[in-house]
Amino acid sequence: MSRHIAEVVENIEIACKIYKMTIISNQVAQSAYPGQFIHISIPHDESLLLRRPISINRVNRNNNQVDIIYQVVGKGTKILSGLEKGAELDILGPLGKGFWIPKGTKKIYIVGGGCGVAPVRFIGERWDYLDITSFLGFRGKPWAYQIDEFERFSRKVFVSSDDGTIGYKGSIISLLDKHLSVENPDLVMACGPVPMIQALQKTVLKYDIPCQISLEERMGCGVGGCLVCSCAIGSKDKWDYKKVCTDGPVFWSEEVILDGESETKC
Ligand SMILES: Cc1cc2nc3c(=O)[nH]c(=O)nc-3n(C[C@H](O)[C@H](O)[C@H](O)COP(=O)(O)OP(=O)(O)OC[C@H]3O[C@@H](n4cnc5c(N)ncnc54)[C@H](O)[C@@H]3O)c2cc1C
Ligand code: FES
Repeated sequence: MSRHIAEVVENIEIACKIYKMTIISNQVAQSAYPGQFIHISIPHDESLLLRRPISINRVNRNNNQVDIIYQVVGKGTKILSGLEKGAELDILGPLGKGFWIPKGTKKIYIVGGGCGVAPVRFIGERWDYLDITSFLGFRGKPWAYQIDEFERFSRKVFVSSDDGTIGYKGSIISLLDKHLSVENPDLVMACGPVPMIQALQKTVLKYDIPCQISLEERMGCGVGGCLVCSCAIGSKDKWDYKKVCTDGPVFWSEEVILDGESETKC
């Protein structure tokens, strides 16, 4: 992990209020792996003291370019969306413990919902030698992005939307459930809003499939010092608080105890 200045080379809107930013960062491009994130200091507004965590969508080790995808939800992401080519960003990263491939894994299902589609793309880019099927859920067609990128490394891509304007109408987890009833991958890897993750936890438990999930908990320092990102990890009888920023953000699905509350807006 290092604190450094990254240069913005592109920042474009790719779906409704969803932006792809490409930055140059030798440190992140050379060492990041799927599921890790960068912690961005928001420029031009001194009232925004806390950095904003954004997952890594893709890295290119040849030219040190790093892609991130973010949804404009508040002041910080609004300022990011206005940055132009040549702008400089103070970033920390790569941070966190990301996804990993257990020995013997051959067939994986990748599941992403909303902003959670962005980090799971990196899985397919890095481990494209695996047999990959992708499941992508969006609110509707205006919010859908990067489906073609998943098609490049996936045997098959399944898409769903809440309003039926693209793909299957309904939740991506009900679509996943249908597939798990006829075919079992070695591993499911996922990121998305809390309600999606809760439904996924029940589904993978039903079919007894190992599953890694990435949590997008609110963060402060991003490096283990403030405890803002604590999350209950363990079993219902025996659990402990872990820090999502340094112990995660990726955990085994059966270990994560999520309450019913969701403040996610992806
Ligand atoms: C490890 C990690 C990876 C992330 N990766 C991405 C990503 O790849 N793309 C992306 O768009 N977003 C991602 N997020 C969420 C992103 O960090 C927040 O959306 C961002 O910090 C909001 O900043 P803001 O100043 O625009 O909004 P704020 O003004 O801080 O908040 C606006 C609204 O968003 C809510 N909010 C803020 N942060 C979060 C959060 N972490 N989870 C749920 N709700 C939140 C607030 O409660 C409020 O309602 C990630 C979060 C974490 C912890
Ligand atoms: S964000 Fe400070 S400990 Fe995790």
